[in-house]
Amino acid sequence: MRVTTRLVVSIVLAAAIVSAGWTWFSARTERAQLLVELDHRGSLLAESLREAAEPLALRADAKALARIADKFGRRERLRGISLHAPDGKALVATAGLPESSPPPGPESEVDCRLIHEGAVHRCTTFLEHTPGFLAVFHDASHVDARVRDVWRRGFLRLLTQVLLITAIALWIVRFDILAPIERTAEWMRLQRSGEGGGAAPPTGGLLGPLASEAAGLAQSLTTARAAAETEARLRHRGQSLWTPERLKAHAKERLRGRPMVVVANREPYSHVRRDGKIQVLSPASGLVSGVEPILKACGGTWVGHGGGEADREVVDANDRVRVPPEEPLYSLRRVWMSKEQEEGYYYGFANEGLWPLCHIAHARPQFRAGDWEHYRAVNRLFADAVLSEVEGVEEPCVMVQDYHFALLPRMIKEARPDARVSLFWHIPWPNPEAFGICPWQREILDGMLGADVLGFHIQYHCNNFLETVDRTLECRIDWEAFSVRRGEHATLVKPYPISVAMEEGAGPLPSKEDLLRSVGAKGTLLALGVDRLDYTKGILERFLAIERLLERSPEYIGRFVFVQLGAPSRTSIPRYRDLVSDVRKEAARINARFETKEAKGWQPIALSVAHHERTEVARWYRVADLCVVTSLHDGMNLVAKEFVAAERESPGALILSRFTGASRELRDALIVNPYDIDRVADALREGIEMGPEERWRRWESMREAVRENNIYRWGARLVDDLGRVRLGEGDKPA
Ligand code: G6P
Repeated sequence: MRVTTRLVVSIVLAAAIVSAGWTWFSARTERAQLLVELDHRGSLLAESLREAAEPLALRADAKALARIADKFGRRERLRGISLHAPDGKALVATAGLPESSPPPGPESEVDCRLIHEGAVHRCTTFLEHTPGFLAVFHDASHVDARVRDVWRRGFLRLLTQVLLITAIALWIVRFDILAPIERTAEWMRLQRSGEGGGAAPPTGGLLGPLASEAAGLAQSLTTARAAAETEARLRHRGQSLWTPERLKAHAKERLRGRPMVVVANREPYSHVRRDGKIQVLSPASGLVSGVEPILKACGGTWVGHGGGEADREVVDANDRVRVPPEEPLYSLRRVWMSKEQEEGYYYGFANEGLWPLCHIAHARPQFRAGDWEHYRAVNRLFADAVLSEVEGVEEPCVMVQDYHFALLPRMIKEARPDARVSLFWHIPWPNPEAFGICPWQREILDGMLGADVLGFHIQYHCNNFLETVDRTLECRIDWEAFSVRRGEHATLVKPYPISVAMEEGAGPLPSKEDLLRSVGAKGTLLALGVDRLDYTKGILERFLAIERLLERSPEYIGRFVFVQLGAPSRTSIPRYRDLVSDVRKEAARINARFETKEAKGWQPIALSVAHHERTEVARWYRVADLCVVTSLHDGMNLVAKEFVAAERESPGALILSRFTGASRELRDALIVNPYDIDRVADALREGIEMGPEERWRRWESMREAVRENNIYRWGARLVDDLGRVRLGEGDKPA
């Protein structure tokens, strides 16, 4: 039964019971009153007639009795009078009365009762002087009629009450109970389904008092739902976002707990003496900023050239030191080399031979047999260091970095066929014709193909490499699987675009004015260049573009300032030394050209030729309005990505050379051909004048690209492929 029916039936029943009880009581009282009235009237009449009627009994004078009766008969409801012998037989009676009647009871003077099923009321009383009694009859039919009437009225009242109560109950239930419940239920449904949109709960009616409680519940529900959504989003993100923790777990699983050994010429920390004290420096190297986060996350050993003047003073007996100094997370194993070796291997073959060979920057490569010998010898030195590091480790993992170690993979594999070796080439790979001028190209390619996994930044460089191999060596190339098979051994050749980690929790924003003051610069629009002073970076071309910008848009004079943080690099090589002086001269020339009395103390180019610590560079990234990367050729260029990864208050604009690997990913940078000075000048202006909306759109898209393809993902992909390597017959331990 529905609640409403139950409620109505209960109310009706209760009303019926009360009404019936009341009517019963009223009917009973009415009847009793009427009977008392009849009794009173009958006994009064009987008593008053007794004396007068007594002689008539003796005479049996019916006529006289009739007269008396007539006289009293006018009185209400009197039916008649009779006189009876003691046995009840009527002696004389008015018309229509029974012939006999039972005598009155002895206990009362006048005996009144109902007879003939309540239709007649009779009062009897004994005569005083004559044996016999007098009976007075009244009509009592009205008593039942009145009682019935009371019941009828009671019923009608009950019916009216029931109808009224039902109508009122239904009204109240419908509008004061059901309607608020329905409204509240609908509101709850909307809250549950998340369509409520923060609407307040219904307040009126029966459920009004619950409104504030419900509002509180809804608020908690909304908060919980938002938290759940955020968590779900993060979890979903977590699947695609690589973090140090995720990489660590991943590497542990893939490398089955084996330690990771990274080999890179440039050490991530070098120790130098300044004012008699040992200081730690971190170099300006894209490789270091890319690879170090992986070792920080996974632990292991970095085998590098101990090039700092105080490096030997801090290592242990095995030439190791724990780094980073402030929170050691991995070991740095230093390899020592003689001045001659450094000259031949590093300055000579690597940086005067392979570097210009691989970069199309119009610098003629120098190939000297002596350098080549040193190159081979130093590769051997590093191979020995690596082999000592992995001694006793089953199937060790070695990640070799860059063009300094083209021969290392083969050397390691020859001694440890069970090692998993990758080589990542951080610089471009030229086309086969360009590479073909290297007198030792066969040895280089053979050394590189000792690796199980060989990585470049972009597919284009992989293709160049495979074509070079195809033209130079006897081997099988699988162009679909991108692998090279020589004898029993296969090398997978794949692009792994390197990246950086997004900056998080960098703290309060530095002051632009303070930073500018620190390099003696002035201005409100800050453009930034961060480079090793290398001829491949297009620094002179950049200066020319700045000159062109100010020529065309003199309104920027006094406002626009370009800060070039330039780290001196490979200065033993004449080409690099010359570059430093060219850069200085060019900056001075342009500054002089735009000198003006109106903007006193202002210069368009502020050049800081010095080693800048990574933490210092990071501060500049955060406040620069523009970052300018105009490399003539660059494997990736991590300055562009570091700028995008920096934590800022408002977006910056990035001008990026199309000859960098980064331009393939950061498509929302202002992409330029650095040789086209006018176009770079245009891009500078576009970057300055870009509307906030476009600036945000481009910035967000670039950040998304770096966030997704961060350095941990780079490491994970390499580790993945290294872990998947199936060591072939030729790779089995001897
Ligand atoms: C490039 C190379 C790195 C090198 C870095 C700095 O990024 O790919 O291998 O470490 O330049 O050069 P440097 O000669 O100072 O190590």
